[in-house]
Amino acid sequence: MKAVAELLDLSGQSAIVTGGAAGIGLGISQRLAEAGASVLIADIDGEGARVAAKELSGAGYRAEGMAANVADEFDVSDVIDEAVQLFGRLDIVVNNAGIYPNIPLARLEPDSFDRVVAVNLRGVYLFTKFASELMKTQGHGGRIINVTSIDALHPSMIGLAAYDATKHGVWGFTKNTAAELAPYGILVNAVAPGGITTPGTQGMIDEGAGEPGEDDAQALQAAFTAKIPMRRMGEPDEIGKVVLFLASDMASYMSGSQVVVDGGALLG
Ligand SMILES: NC(=O)c1ccc[n+]([C@@H]2O[C@H](COP(=O)([O-])OP(=O)(O)OC[C@H]3O[C@@H](n4cnc5c(N)ncnc54)[C@H](O)[C@@H]3O)[C@@H](O)[C@H]2O)c1
Repeated sequence: MKAVAELLDLSGQSAIVTGGAAGIGLGISQRLAEAGASVLIADIDGEGARVAAKELSGAGYRAEGMAANVADEFDVSDVIDEAVQLFGRLDIVVNNAGIYPNIPLARLEPDSFDRVVAVNLRGVYLFTKFASELMKTQGHGGRIINVTSIDALHPSMIGLAAYDATKHGVWGFTKNTAAELAPYGILVNAVAPGGITTPGTQGMIDEGAGEPGEDDAQALQAAFTAKIPMRRMGEPDEIGKVVLFLASDMASYMSGSQVVVDGGALLG
């Protein structure tokens, strides 16, 4: 039986984290790197990705950053090629990049709907397809971890219809690809965060506060946290720790699962 430290050890493995320049993706990148994985951060904010990777390298870990739009098949192919070029192999893909514009259906135009689908759903499809093809060729399995949301199970607020459609979609995609890829040792799972403090949610809170003003934003945040049984938002690291678990040998018999990490929010 392996010791706990060994089970969590990702030394010699290589990982791609999409949207890893900030927020949850950065928290995930930090934990995977700490566990010994070489991490390629791919983000539409290329400069942010390089800065994040530099910070990880400064802490003694192996990390690189590059610009990529997960909705673009050529970018996705480039990211996978780059990971192999840099690290010689690919073991873990974390599909984290996502957008959640708050637009009520009455104002939701086709272009906005398509953009949410392209980033949140098409991006996951592209990375899963290309990465699993490589992992099959490598012949030693792999892990694909999709960051969904509690909105993959239950809507959290009006204005997220497009988002909820994509997150339900990613959960369905996770289950189906888990069944197809399990015989190759490629395990596909999802993590469903509740409210996590990130630049994205901060922007949403500031926007929802209407008139710019700290008090409004604080009031909205307080109203939001009042609905969470643990009475606080989560931190990116609280998702990072669960993704590390799913990427590691701790989760050796898990595929097609969705782990909810929400401070009890779905309990209502
Ligand atoms: N923060 C939350 O409360 C929360 C809750 C549930 C689910 N999630 C999910 O977690 C993921 C990350 O959310 P976050 O709050 O950290 O977001 P964020 O907006 O704070 O950060 C997202 C990162 O993804 C990058 N990105 C955006 N579009 C991209 C694209 N097309 N290609 C590549 N990179 C792109 C951004 O540049 C940014 O660095 C998303 O999938 C989101 O749906 C977040």
